[in-house]
Amino acid sequence: MFNHLQAMPADPILGLLSQFRDDPRPVKVDLGVGVYKDPQGNTPILACVKTAERLRTATETTKVYIGPAGSEKFNRLICHLAFGADHSVIEQNRVRSVSTPGGTGSLKVAADFIKRCNPDATMWVSDPTWANHVSLFKSAGLKVENYPYYDQQNNQLKFEEMLAALRQLGGNDVVLLHACCHNPTGQDLTEAQWDQVVAVAVERGFTPLIDMAYQGFGDSLERDAYGVRKMAAAVDAMLLCASCSKNFGLYRERIGACAVITQDSAKADIALSVMLHAIRANYSMPPAHGAALVETILSSEELSQQWLEELAVMRNRINGNRAMLVERIKAAGVTRDFSFIAQQKGMFSFLGISLEQVERLKRDYGIYMVGSSRMSVAGITEDNVDYLAQSIAAIL
Ligand code: LMR
Repeated sequence: MFNHLQAMPADPILGLLSQFRDDPRPVKVDLGVGVYKDPQGNTPILACVKTAERLRTATETTKVYIGPAGSEKFNRLICHLAFGADHSVIEQNRVRSVSTPGGTGSLKVAADFIKRCNPDATMWVSDPTWANHVSLFKSAGLKVENYPYYDQQNNQLKFEEMLAALRQLGGNDVVLLHACCHNPTGQDLTEAQWDQVVAVAVERGFTPLIDMAYQGFGDSLERDAYGVRKMAAAVDAMLLCASCSKNFGLYRERIGACAVITQDSAKADIALSVMLHAIRANYSMPPAHGAALVETILSSEELSQQWLEELAVMRNRINGNRAMLVERIKAAGVTRDFSFIAQQKGMFSFLGISLEQVERLKRDYGIYMVGSSRMSVAGITEDNVDYLAQSIAAIL
């Protein structure tokens, strides 16, 4: 049965974790996987999460099964966070949501759901997109196509080409959009551009699936949700995949949410039943711990306030790292313009170097980034930024 198997290559992102860990050099820089790091290079547990964990340990009374939808309270609160508590889809009772094992689990639930809605649906993803989007949708049996998104020569959006591609789509198409902090480019749609994409979605009738893995890491919780809220208010049907990995720092707890919006409340109940059916046949039910922490934080005024402050610290540090890197690359004598890095948002930007140069950074300098030259700017610190800038200067 297993004799014919061929070994698979390591994941282009997660494979870097072990390569970096196993690198014995004392000087090395991890710009690989998208995890927040503090100025010391650590990924600490947020203080609000620590408090929520203490409360949970003291008050938890059972470990009994939670059910395929997960925590109802978490599901409600996460929708309030994403859409805004007073959004029309919530007032009209047109949204249903489930807790999922992380953002990836949420995307897989959405993919299985789409496959059940329309086995012939085509998923449209930005070119480029998070590498796992493509394999995830394909593994759910969906067709995957690209729409133009980012011009790597000029470090800018290909917005007109994107719109032109979306204008060709229709009812059998699902379009994956990144709510904010586009992974891997860091290049987001402006609010005016979101407005145009929303208008095309309404006109063409394709289904938007918005992946929101970084709410609060771009500009603010509210501004990062602009596209989600605008789209939800305009279309009859859409999907939202949210993650609490980054903004609550709950990476390994695996907590996210998948929300479906339909035309009316009765259709939303039907959609939820289909989603629950897909979940039962997949992982049965989600882990409960992360959801319990998030709902504890979001239902306490004090912990929510603390979380907002901790989120702002992470966001400001990441934005500060962007500006710092651009300045230090310049100071290292590089004439090429990297100022786009400071304009982009979230954890990632493409440095815009070749695979061979990425390999040289790893081999000769112990600097790790994804082969596409995607850097997680969260891994930059005051201590490593000059070394990084000088190494970049050397390989250029
Ligand atoms: C990333 O893109 O680095 C993160 O979303 C982690 C992952 O699972 O790939």
